[in-house]
Amino acid sequence: MSKNQLPEFFDDLDESNLVEMRPSQKHLSRKRESKRHEADARLFVRAQEISREFQFAYKAARFEEAWLLDSLVEIAEHQWIADVLRKVKGGKEASVYQCLGGKAASGRLVAAKVYRPRSLRNLKNDQQYRTGRVDLDEDGNALTKKADLDAIIKRTAYGEEVRHRSWIAYEYKTLEILSEAGADVPHPYAMENNTVLMDFIGDLGGAAPTLNSVSLERGEAKPLFERVVRNIDLMLSHDRIHGDLSAYNILYWGGKITLIDFPQVVLPNQNPAAWTIFLRDVTRICQYFSSQGVGVDARQLASELWMSHGLKIKKEVHPRDLDAEKTEDRKLWEQQKNNK
Ligand SMILES: Nc1ncnc2c1ncn2[C@@H]1O[C@H](COP(=O)(O)OP(=O)(O)O)[C@@H](O)[C@H]1O
Ligand SMILES: [Mg+2]
Repeated sequence: MSKNQLPEFFDDLDESNLVEMRPSQKHLSRKRESKRHEADARLFVRAQEISREFQFAYKAARFEEAWLLDSLVEIAEHQWIADVLRKVKGGKEASVYQCLGGKAASGRLVAAKVYRPRSLRNLKNDQQYRTGRVDLDEDGNALTKKADLDAIIKRTAYGEEVRHRSWIAYEYKTLEILSEAGADVPHPYAMENNTVLMDFIGDLGGAAPTLNSVSLERGEAKPLFERVVRNIDLMLSHDRIHGDLSAYNILYWGGKITLIDFPQVVLPNQNPAAWTIFLRDVTRICQYFSSQGVGVDARQLASELWMSHGLKIKKEVHPRDLDAEKTEDRKLWEQQKNNK
C-alpha cells in the first residue's frame, strides 16, 4: 500500500478538487504528513478487520472501501443498514450511497451521506454560514465543553475535528427539525461517525433526479413552485435558511419534491449576511421555475417571506461605499467586521 493512496482516492472523486487540495497539502510539515500516513495505515488495518464481519454488495475500489467500512461500521452494527448497494454520487464534501436498511430502519432503502475525513476537506469557506451558529456535538446538542470550544478557537487539529463534526451535525439536526415540522425532506435515522443516514428518495433502480435535470409537465410547475415556497417559509418559521438552495438540491420523484443538503444552514437572526443568503436561495429557485414557465419577482417574494417572519432587511455595505471620516460609517464597518 502506498502511503499517499487514500488522499489520491479522494482527489479522484472530484477532479476540480485538485486545485483546492494540493497547495495546503504541499505545505503540510513533514511531521504532520507522516502522522497522516500513519493514520491512513491504521485505517487500512481497521478496514481489514471490519471487512471480516461486513461484506457489502457494492464493490468499492480498495481505498474507497477502507474509508467506507470505517465510516459505516457503527451504523451497520446498530442495524441501521444491512447492505450498501451502490454509490449514488461522489462529491467534493461527501459521497452518497444507496443502502438497504437494517432492522432499525425497517428494511427500507436508505441513503448514507458519508462525509470526507476532516483532513481532506477544505473548511475555509464555511465561515459565512457558521456565523451566529453555536457548534454542535455528535448528538446534535450545543457544545458546552470548554476544552472543545477552546480547541475550535485555537484551530488545533482536534478543534478542526470538532468543527467538522458540528458541520455534519447541523445537517442531521436540521433534517430532524424539518422532518418533524412536516417539511419535504428525507426522514433522518441516525448520525454516526461522519455519516448521516436518511430516507432514500428513488427506488432500487437508482436515486431520484435533481430538479435541475427535470422538465416539468405543463400545469405541474406552478404547484411545485408553491410547494418549494411553502418549504422555504416553513424553514423560516423554524429559524433556518437553507443557504445552498437551488434546483440542484431538490430531488424530484413521483411528482413530488424533496429538499436535501443542509450542513450550511443559516440562522436568520444571528447571521448578518442572512438576508443576502436568503435572497440568493429564493432567486435561484425563481430562476429554475421561470425556465419552467412560472414567472415571479424573486426579490419581492423574498422580502415578503422575510418580513412576514418579522425579520429586517439588513443591507451589507461594501467598504468602498463607506467614508472613513464619518463616525457613523466607521461604526457600521466595525460592526460588519466583527460580525463576520
Ligand atoms: N436522501 C437521498 N435520496 C436519494 N439520493 C440522494 C439523497 N441525498 C442525496 N442524494 C444524492 O446525492 C447527491 C449529493 O447529495 P447532497 O446532499 O446534495 O450532497 P453534496 O451536494 O454536498 O455532494 C444528490 O444530488 C442526490 O443525487
Ligand atoms: Mg448538493
